[in-house]
Order: sequence, then C-alpha cells, then structure tokens
Amino acid sequence: MKGVVLAGGLGTRMYPLTKVTNKHLLPIYNKPMIFYPIRTLVNAGIDEILIVTGGNNAGDFLRLLGNGKEFGLRHLNYTYQEGEGGIAAALSLAEYFADGDRIVVILGDNIIEKNICRAVEAFRDQKEGARIMLKEVPDPHRFGVPAFEGDRIVRIDEKPSHPASNYAVIGIYMYDGKVFDFIKTLKPSERGELEITDVNNYYIREGKIEWDVLDGWWTDAGTFDSLLYACNMVKQTGANKLV
Ligand code: G1P
Repeated sequence: MKGVVLAGGLGTRMYPLTKVTNKHLLPIYNKPMIFYPIRTLVNAGIDEILIVTGGNNAGDFLRLLGNGKEFGLRHLNYTYQEGEGGIAAALSLAEYFADGDRIVVILGDNIIEKNICRAVEAFRDQKEGARIMLKEVPDPHRFGVPAFEGDRIVRIDEKPSHPASNYAVIGIYMYDGKVFDFIKTLKPSERGELEITDVNNYYIREGKIEWDVLDGWWTDAGTFDSLLYACNMVKQTGANKLV
C-alpha cells in the first residue's frame, strides 16, 4: 500500500498567515502541520509516500522534510500542483506514483490523536473499492456528511445546510487503482473544484465503499479556529499515538 499526502492549495481561507508560506507548514503546537499526516501514514506501516504540494513555497517542503529521515523513511516522493483545483485534482497527480496500486490518501491538514492501523488492515483485506473514515462532530455542515440507510452509506453531501447525520467524512481515504479513472470523469463543483466527495459518491453508486469510525479525536486545521483547536489538543493529549 502506498500513501499520498495532499499539501497543495493556496490556503486563502487563512490569509495573511498563508501569504508567504504554505498552510501545511504552519505550526501545530511544536511541529509543522505536515509532520502529523506523514506520521499517521508511517504509523500505519506505509513507507512509500508521495507529497503533493504547490504554490510559491514548494521548495520549503524539501528543506523541511528531505528524504524523510525524521520519520524513519529512506526516501520521500514529491510532485507539484499548478494552481488550485480541489482535492480530487491534487490527487490525480498521484496516478504515476500509484502505478495501479492501492493508496491511502490523507489531507495535509488532518490531525488525529491515535492511528489508522485497523482501517488500513481492513482495507488490505477488502477485495476492491474504497474505504472512508467517519467521526461524529458537533458541526457536520463544515464537512462531507454521510447519509445512511441502516449500516449502509447511500450518499455523501458536501457541506450540507441540513446534514443527514452527525458524522463528518474525515480527510483520510483509501482507494483501489480505479480512482484515477473516476477522477477523469469529474466536473468542477459550484466552488469550482474537483470534489473528493464526488469520487466517494462514485464508489457508493458502484456499491464498493466500506467505512470505519476513527478512534480518538480528529480535527482539520484549515481555519483559524480549527488551527487553534489542533494546537491545544496536541499540547494537551499528544497526537499519532500508537496504542
Ligand atoms: C474537505 C472535504 C470534506 C472533508 C474535509 C475533511 O473539505 O471536501 O468532504 O470532510 O476536507 O477535512 P475542505 O477542507 O476542502 O473544505
């Protein structure tokens, strides 16, 4: 299994913090944001990792991460996203790296308390398709939200004003090799992006998606408030625990 960290975008929601640096290089308590998603993948036994970045500060990722020695890696792969285009557009740049293998994708601003070992193991045993992870949240309208029939997810709504459940689809996604063909059929959403939620809905329509609920806390760090929350949570409890 290979891992992809999506760390592109222009971070305009966080101006002026992101005017001279990439959002994923901002500090979460005592480490740069991108350290956390890389650690999430490494803790799950994934050591072939691609970082997708972009914008004006892409070189800073190389200086910061090098070949991944800090994470016990011997090598890191990098690719560059021109402009913005949404999560699915950034992911499409990983096609060459994935080379038909299964991938675990993590958004560069998603931080977790514990680990994803169990879900990654389950995905290894899954015959085909995709696997997503959910977390109950107080503010589902900020996220992709699953609608259930019994135990089955029947669709995901992106940032709905009337959420169908109290769960967020968190930014950790597992896909088989077909994901890149699905992305090629996508059209931009109203916010002008290729949406990862449309990719997941594709797998739902094919009846090939499984899901897990994440253990421990989860947050993104893409707004001023969630950035502050992430810093406090990491300070109070630590992140990426293996037990
Ligand atoms: C993205 C996805 C959303 C998901 C969230 C998790 O939202 O579109 O479905 O719940 O990441 O962090 P964005 O942060 O791009 O608004």
